[in-house]
Amino acid sequence: MKKIRFIDLYAGIGGIRLGFQNAFSAQAKFVFSNEIDNSACKTYEANFGENPKGDITKTKSSEIPDFDILLAGFPCQAFSIAGRRKGFGDIRGTHFFEIARVIKDKKPAAFFLENVKHFMSHDDGRTFKTIKKVIEEDLGYTFYHKVLNAKDFGRPQNRERIYMVGFKDPIKFEFPSATHDKVAVRDILERNVGDEFFLSQRYLNTLKKHRTRHEEKGNGFGFMILKKTDIANTIVLGGMGRERNLIVDQESFKKSKRTNINSEAVRSLTPREFLRLQGFPDSFKIVAPKSQMYRQTANSVAVPVVDAIARSMKKALAESKNLDIKPIHCGICGKKLLKGLNDPHIQTCGNLALWSVCFNKHDKFRKILGQHV
Ligand SMILES: C[S@@+](CC[C@H](N)C(=O)[O-])C[C@H]1O[C@@H](n2cnc3c(N)ncnc32)[C@H](O)[C@@H]1O
Repeated sequence: MKKIRFIDLYAGIGGIRLGFQNAFSAQAKFVFSNEIDNSACKTYEANFGENPKGDITKTKSSEIPDFDILLAGFPCQAFSIAGRRKGFGDIRGTHFFEIARVIKDKKPAAFFLENVKHFMSHDDGRTFKTIKKVIEEDLGYTFYHKVLNAKDFGRPQNRERIYMVGFKDPIKFEFPSATHDKVAVRDILERNVGDEFFLSQRYLNTLKKHRTRHEEKGNGFGFMILKKTDIANTIVLGGMGRERNLIVDQESFKKSKRTNINSEAVRSLTPREFLRLQGFPDSFKIVAPKSQMYRQTANSVAVPVVDAIARSMKKALAESKNLDIKPIHCGICGKKLLKGLNDPHIQTCGNLALWSVCFNKHDKFRKILGQHV
């Protein structure tokens, strides 16, 4: 069986890797992983047997082995060409540049990228426009993107993320549809949770006071106690990811011996419950301190969403040999354009505006028109 070689950039604790390993099973071979944060590296190593320590900005493409599919859930940053037209040069100094550089140098068959939903609206959409332009025009990849929610894939978490997929060839690809329609936070709860997860009476009182003050000013305030039939709010970096996902746990509360515990049995979710919200199996080892584990898990991905997209990519790649790509014709005289944009016919058959109507319809495939018409 031919192995598919992957690289895992901005690897974190390997949530994306896990999704692709599930989908490609024995066919998947990870040849390179890269992550700058020491604590995330320890979690990755405990679970995948290799330490991905490295800084991608300092890693030359020549140091990366050849591979077929690039994976990256990169940190979100706003940037835009904002009127500049240098293309590739406009993104220098950004994390996306590092990814684009590796794609340009290594020319993998496909890539998978993940980011926060509002990445699409950063800087009035210019950041995203820049990415799309670089991928399609400078790198010549076919590009697909979609916002998907973890709650539609069996995880009781309202987590919307943008997923971006690209192929070197003009491959037809469809994002997966929802696999689940009913999920609830009770499905991920642990039993007999230690009393360190319960809020002190004092802290719960502080949260309530904050809420009152913010409500008086007409602002929302993040503290929220979930019902067991609810779905959790997005788990995010920092404290509020925890305070927005509190629950009442009478059963564990009754066993507690702590004296300053709140009387309403309100507790935070545990690191294991965070991992379950993201779809990590219970066999996933927790080796980092609690606070680090919350951060690392919030930073990661909903594994079942990645798994479903990876399966769609696998299908698309397998079917790609049967592509039915229509040749393009001049919008004016109907002549078949053998060399796409470079076809000398465009120069002779005048009206570029009309021609571009024809051209835009086939925009995705213009880089490879020469091979297919
Ligand atoms: C959004 S997280 C990705 C998490 C990952 N997808 C997962 O499943 O856990 C981005 C990661 O990029 C890492 N990172 C940031 N700058 C980096 C760099 N220069 N080189 C390598 N990793 C970097 C961060 O430490 C963080 O873990």
